[in-house]
Amino acid sequence: MNQDQLKQNVAEAALKYILPDLHADTIIGVGTGSTANKFIEALAPHKSRFLGAVASSDATAELLRAAGIEVFDLNQVTQIAVYVDGADEANKKLHLIKGGGAALTREKIVAAVAKKFVCIADSSKGVEVLGRFPLPVEVIPMARSYVAREIVALGGNPVWREGVTTDNGNQIIDIHDMAIEDPEALEQTLNDIVGVVSNGLFARRPADVLMLASAEGVKTFSTMNTVSQDGNYF
Ligand code: A5P
Repeated sequence: MNQDQLKQNVAEAALKYILPDLHADTIIGVGTGSTANKFIEALAPHKSRFLGAVASSDATAELLRAAGIEVFDLNQVTQIAVYVDGADEANKKLHLIKGGGAALTREKIVAAVAKKFVCIADSSKGVEVLGRFPLPVEVIPMARSYVAREIVALGGNPVWREGVTTDNGNQIIDIHDMAIEDPEALEQTLNDIVGVVSNGLFARRPADVLMLASAEGVKTFSTMNTVSQDGNYF
């Protein structure tokens, strides 16, 4: 089974998981990336069952509109029932690294508002320790070099993602070579550097539910229980 098929399987599993929670006034948060795109495809035929969506990027907003799903500005919305998005890495506490697609800040905002965050990925994204995937940090352009020096002082290897501008008009630094033993502490430390807009650690607000697809099927983990329904850890 290829990765594309796994992404489709987990997107369909997420749809099945959230369908009972959809009502005429429900707003869904929709993430960014190839797995989230599969979720949009799965969601589209059910658009009459909910009110609309808040998108975590301009690209996602465009796809949602193309699928006939109404897109709301977050400032028009007081509640997001559920947020479905992919991730670049996930640990057993459902802490995540996100931002491979540079949408981390809007993703973090939507996750903050959402009542429930369902993260979907193929099982290769499940790790013991976060940090093999370079950790994205969104920075105000004039602060890029300063932030990079501060990252070096923290023991990381910062690499500017040249040519990429976020939807918010900012730049991305990816932190390589950092084993992240305490994701919550590092998330806070990075946020405290002046010029950092946000970073791709989702630890202070982790996923509530993590669905991982492999050739054996989709396993569902929650913050209440990191053992899946079949009794196995990832
Ligand atoms: C976007 O900025 C990211 O946070 C994505 O959610 C993440 O990179 C996962 O993307 P894929 O589903 O394409 O692997």
